Amino acid sequence: MRPMDPYAAVRPLLLALDPETAHAVARTLLGLPLDWGRVGGVPDDPRLEVAVAGLRLRNPIGLAAGFDKDCSRLGPLGRLGFGYVVGGTVTRSPRVGNPRPRVVRDRRRRALVNAMGLPNPGAAAVAERLASTPATTSRWVSLADEALEDAVAALGLVAPHADAIELNASSPNAGWAHRAAHVEALTRAFVARARRPVFVKLPAGDAATALAIAEAAAAGGAAGLTCANTVPVAHPRLATGRGGLSGAPLAHRTPDLVAAVRERTGLPVHACGGIASAAEALACLEAGAATIQLYTGLVFEGPGLVGRIARGLLAELDARGVSVAQLAGT
Ligand SMILES: Cc1cc2nc3c(=O)[nH]c(=O)nc-3n(C[C@H](O)[C@H](O)[C@H](O)COP(=O)(O)O)c2cc1C
Repeated sequence: MRPMDPYAAVRPLLLALDPETAHAVARTLLGLPLDWGRVGGVPDDPRLEVAVAGLRLRNPIGLAAGFDKDCSRLGPLGRLGFGYVVGGTVTRSPRVGNPRPRVVRDRRRRALVNAMGLPNPGAAAVAERLASTPATTSRWVSLADEALEDAVAALGLVAPHADAIELNASSPNAGWAHRAAHVEALTRAFVARARRPVFVKLPAGDAATALAIAEAAAAGGAAGLTCANTVPVAHPRLATGRGGLSGAPLAHRTPDLVAAVRERTGLPVHACGGIASAAEALACLEAGAATIQLYTGLVFEGPGLVGRIARGLLAELDARGVSVAQLAGT
């Protein structure tokens, strides 16, 4: 039976609201005891399984960081069928983020520009939440403090409750993230203490910077790289005047960046940027990605997107007679 897609009814209402309000409504809905597995519609199929950095994932489709900043909805998001979910980004101390408006939606381009500024309740609150909620899929947490002492303190609180850590070395709001030596030092400190895989999320602005940060992360011992974050752009409707572009305009560049980063470092890569279809996911896997992550696609396509990508991948695997792991070369 075709899985239901209640988003068809809900989408016009959500897209009529301002983006942050729509996000709050979506999060409220995720808090309801609905059959999220049915909504997501992801088939349970061993051909979708992948192993990366010692983690076994039921499929290669991950939720990118920023959707569930306080990690309070990772349970239902996991039930939607994601192979893993990245909570956060979380910092040692709570942050309120930038002044509003800080998210702008462009329906025509299927894009967002955000300058959230990492609002989050802080590492201690998130650690408590993770400890008190059962995992429904592999749970990773994104962290981003500049000072080594703060970053390591946040890691100490959160890591025991996470399956992996993603160091956000790419927030458009954080100048430090583009300094390779600092990223290497942070990565090394995380790897020494985390006792689980440490992935580093790269900036997406220009390829040279992304590759320099990728090399720094590799030198620091990262288990893999997420490629990549939003692309910095000016936007007059944001209170800060600048933000990070995400969604469809990024889709064409993500496979090339994945291939370049993979070739330069040899590390597993999580492709991220504009993925909203099985074809786009496939292009990234063929470019050498171990997994894919998405955020903006979920906003425009709804929760049924996870299942549509999984079923599209399965159809392609059938046609080729391979598994995702073979396709992606993991
Ligand atoms: C509103 C919003 C908030 C985000 N917050 C974070 C964040 O806290 N940490 C992070 O690493 N990435 C964050 N991102 C970036 C996404 O994780 C992802 O890298 C980017 O949006 C590109 O993927 P997409 O085109 O599938 O959205 C955010 C993106 C959006 C749209």
